[in-house]
Amino acid sequence: MKIQDSKALVTGANRGIGREIVLGLLDRGVGTVYCGARKPESLAELVEEYGERVVPLQLDITDEGQVREAAQSVPELDLLINNAGVLHWGSFAEGDLEDIRQDMETNYFGTLRMVRAFLPQLEKSGDAVIVNLHSVVSFGNMAFIGGYSASKAAEHSLTQALRSELGPKGIQVLGVYPGPVDTDMAKELEMDKTPPAQVAQAILDGVEAGKAYTFPDPMAEQVGATWKENPLAVETLFAEMAEM
Ligand SMILES: NC(=O)c1ccc[n+]([C@@H]2O[C@H](COP(=O)([O-])OP(=O)(O)OC[C@H]3O[C@@H](n4cnc5c(N)ncnc54)[C@H](OP(=O)(O)O)[C@@H]3O)[C@@H](O)[C@H]2O)c1
Repeated sequence: MKIQDSKALVTGANRGIGREIVLGLLDRGVGTVYCGARKPESLAELVEEYGERVVPLQLDITDEGQVREAAQSVPELDLLINNAGVLHWGSFAEGDLEDIRQDMETNYFGTLRMVRAFLPQLEKSGDAVIVNLHSVVSFGNMAFIGGYSASKAAEHSLTQALRSELGPKGIQVLGVYPGPVDTDMAKELEMDKTPPAQVAQAILDGVEAGKAYTFPDPMAEQVGATWKENPLAVETLFAEMAEM
């Protein structure tokens, strides 16, 4: 699809990768970008700088009422970027069950809720794209973020199903699988991290090229290549990393 003059929506638009995606969309000439945020006031700077091309939306993706209201206030949509996500640290054996549930509620059910709510607008577009932000841990569980990994695997499975279900309706469904990115989410990770602006550019290149799988950073590329050749090797690699 062409981003120029399109209408897009980004969840979790106020910081991290989401904010960089919004800036990238504006740079590529998006007509309107609806910016979902739990605290819309956190978007004030963007609105001040870009004016009416930026439309703030009160949007907690775990809140059915807010998602429904947001969908009612967006008449047309070509590009839905499901970026919002949470990560709770902890293993299945020792982590808090409520944290594990929260990761699934936000990353999997939140994304699913957004897709269902905005389907009418996307179907009307005729040339629509949905992008779901997954992770390299969609392909193999890292034990110290067990619940998060499971939620990202579930979200990947959702993307696969939506791709075959919505393709015939003129909606492409794309998945993005980053490694560590330098945002608040990964601040406790001590390893090389890719700047979020670089990840955002790779995501938008993927949108314009209609890439089903985007691996937006060096670690992602490496894991993606391993996964294509030998999926079991990813499980082994992540098990070794979890022991380090
Ligand atoms: N950073 C990484 O290393 C990495 C790697 C692979 C994949 N990813 C994925 O990339 C996406 C963006 O991550 P990030 O690194 O930019 O994280 P981040 O800096 O922690 O930002 C997360 C964003 O999601 C929003 N959010 C969280 N829960 C929400 C909810 N219930 N409803 C609406 N918005 C919500 C946050 O809003 P508030 O400001 O209100 O909290 C924030 O805007 C996530 O899906 C993440 O899983 C990140």
